[in-house]
Amino acid sequence: MKQTPDSQLHNKSAGWSALFSEPVSELVKRYTASVDFDQRLGLFDIEGSLAHAKMLAKQSIISEQDLADIERGMAQISLEITNDQFNWQLDLEDVHLNIEARLTELVGLAGKRLHTGRSRNDQVATDIRLWLRAQIEDIVLALKQLQLALLRVAEREAATILPGFTHMQVAQPVTFGHHILAYVNMFSRDTERLIDCRKRTNQLPLGAAALAGTTYPIDRAFVASLLGFEGLCENSLDAVSDRDFAIEFCAAASILMMHVSRLSEELIIWMSPRVGFIDLADRFCTGSSIMPQKKNPDVPELARGKTGRVYGDLVSLLTLMKGQPLAYNKDNQEDKEPLFDAADTALQTLLIFTEMVQGLTVKPDNMRNAALQGFSTATDLADYLVKQGLAFRDAHEAVAHAVKVCTARQCDLADLTLPELRAATGLTAEQQALITSDVSHCLTLEGSVSARNHIGGTAPNQVLAAVARAKSRLEAD
Ligand code: ARG
Repeated sequence: MKQTPDSQLHNKSAGWSALFSEPVSELVKRYTASVDFDQRLGLFDIEGSLAHAKMLAKQSIISEQDLADIERGMAQISLEITNDQFNWQLDLEDVHLNIEARLTELVGLAGKRLHTGRSRNDQVATDIRLWLRAQIEDIVLALKQLQLALLRVAEREAATILPGFTHMQVAQPVTFGHHILAYVNMFSRDTERLIDCRKRTNQLPLGAAALAGTTYPIDRAFVASLLGFEGLCENSLDAVSDRDFAIEFCAAASILMMHVSRLSEELIIWMSPRVGFIDLADRFCTGSSIMPQKKNPDVPELARGKTGRVYGDLVSLLTLMKGQPLAYNKDNQEDKEPLFDAADTALQTLLIFTEMVQGLTVKPDNMRNAALQGFSTATDLADYLVKQGLAFRDAHEAVAHAVKVCTARQCDLADLTLPELRAATGLTAEQQALITSDVSHCLTLEGSVSARNHIGGTAPNQVLAAVARAKSRLEAD
């Protein structure tokens, strides 16, 4: 970053310092400047300024010639920024003053008129909203791509059986497709949250000026329509000071990352050689510099770790706001880095997960073997007994008996012959007679999953139907 050497800059270009009798100290300049990080708002700042200038001209607050000069200058500045040729100067503090100074350098007086009826306070609030709106769109699109990738896995593995767990203990068999669909549902709620957050982000602060509004005959609705805002921030104090839309975004990003982190945790467990349910393509893993046998799931581990920083961004913003009296305070300059970080982290994570999911392969034999252990069909046997006339509590007790017998014999319920099974339940002879040869079907993994045949159930045909519904929802967006 180039620094402007002459010290009279403080009252020439800084835009606020004629009152000051000495230049800002170097330390303070560095401490208060934001241009290092807010320059990424540059093109949005220009978009906002152009809309403001058009409105000023329409309302005859500036001349048509001024507007033409501003448009010409801004076109040049946009090019410079896009081509990485813009000379950002620390002395000019932030993105807004940098662009305004360059504009004045390029077009003279018209550049100095641009700030009429505006303050950096409503300007920066507008810039962040424009920027965040675009980010939300990118993240929603990335969420859609990830969901489509997950749906392809769910469809392919609609009938692949693995144990479902509660308390990390084998509970009941489920299909892998069904398991994956759980995440599709989570990501679809994340999408809804972001779309909802976009509505409140997409409101125009410009016109609030520093805090109280402005004396010029402005047309805020015109600016809003030029910028594609859905409405106006209705109170000028609120417009320049609150950042709740950014906090909401970070909350939505935190929840989204929490979902990603849960998926990461599962991928890591499933890939452990002790479990061996899945494999991730080599390009998403790394080896160990010392242990030649290692293949580490770095990407999901990092995603799990990065979830923490997005939570941190949310807490930073909440804490940033909580002590601020109305209206704008310089504290708000600290909103940008956490917000940028949350958006960047969420987007990059989603993009890489979409690719990683495409390189996910399953090991159905290992999944199946695991489901055959731990009496995963015990509930099915209890349900069978209920359907034959037993009360559920009695059926539950009878199956617990049978499980105890099998544990002692080191076999599964399905390994018992019909007479052995009857005896193992500890039921009366009359009750035992209710168990007939058709019981064997409900003890198999396939019988167990296919019997859960309702919306939200794990049966393979329900998985396929859910995939189809999810696809058509995504395609409709
Ligand atoms: N760089 C400032 C920010 O990010 C812009 C607004 C400055 N306003 C002011 N009154 N100092 O918030």
